Amino acid sequence: MCYKYHVGIPEMLQTSLAGLTLRNPVIAAAGTCGYVDALADAIDLHEIGAITTKSITREPREGNAPWRIIPSNVGMLNAIGLANMGVARFVAEEAPKVRACGTTVIASVAGHTIDDYVAVASAIDLCGEFRAIELNVSCPNTSTGRHFGSDPATLRELLAAVRPAVTHGALFVKLAPDMADPVAMAECAIACGANALVLCNTMPAMAIDVHTREPRLSNRQGGLSGPAIHPIVVRIVHDVYARVARNANVPIIGVGGVFTWQDAAEFILAGASAVAMGTALYADPASPRRVVRGLEQWVREQQVQNISQLVGQISQ
Ligand SMILES: Cc1cc2nc3c(=O)[nH]c(=O)nc-3n(C[C@H](O)[C@H](O)[C@H](O)COP(=O)(O)O)c2cc1C
Repeated sequence: MCYKYHVGIPEMLQTSLAGLTLRNPVIAAAGTCGYVDALADAIDLHEIGAITTKSITREPREGNAPWRIIPSNVGMLNAIGLANMGVARFVAEEAPKVRACGTTVIASVAGHTIDDYVAVASAIDLCGEFRAIELNVSCPNTSTGRHFGSDPATLRELLAAVRPAVTHGALFVKLAPDMADPVAMAECAIACGANALVLCNTMPAMAIDVHTREPRLSNRQGGLSGPAIHPIVVRIVHDVYARVARNANVPIIGVGGVFTWQDAAEFILAGASAVAMGTALYADPASPRRVVRGLEQWVREQQVQNISQLVGQISQ
């Protein structure tokens, strides 16, 4: 356990995010670190700002058949298909681990229908262990995974039903990287009560085996993550921050291809208050530690007291 590090970590990385206080702005991304404490085998969870659970649905799901994760030379394609234990087991078996796990835990929620989202969000909210619920309306790997994130009208309908069910913590909304108008979607999420925006999920993508002529993922298509999507999401974070989130005072979590502290710092300068790391955990589950250390050094070099002073500070 890296005791020296989490005791000694200066307040310069402490991050305030929609009412949550994170010890640093580095979060493990949904679906890439299990439920609550799976990452603890690789890294002391005291070293990271938060973890996000894989998306939880009303019923247990097996997910898609293999192959459902394949490498690409620009990142990774996955079509896991929201495999998870279902909300009843999640609340019974995973929620009790939250208090002792050493970091803040954000619960990700997915569903096919509005009723599904409300049922899962209510059950998780009522158990009182999670500081935030993240609505996944941007999963490219199920038939309805992107439905509620596809346009402002459907998102509004969903949030009108879910918002009242989340009373114990903050409500985050996670959007896709290929929205026609990210600013309009962000505006809608904020107007409907989102306390933070998570930008973004994976990019719809495909790979084909040229020998068999078969799609390489059993689901035919999947989501691309990793370095290839990083500059795309930097632009989305930048535009959403500048045009809506800054004035609304709603924080952004930047997600997409964060492998190094420089990737994280880019997101911060574009307007993110925190970053999440997903694909990097597959290459090195302890990589968030390097990013935290690099950010700490960067904040010192930039001669500010706290990393929040660098949020959105790209030169004009
Ligand atoms: C294997 C895998 C599983 C994922 N599962 C989920 C999930 O359950 N819920 C969700 O909101 N995002 C999920 N994601 C998306 C990530 O949380 C993240 O938004 C995306 O991978 C981009 O970040 P990255 O480039 O750092 O991986 C998954 C990504 C991967 C690679």
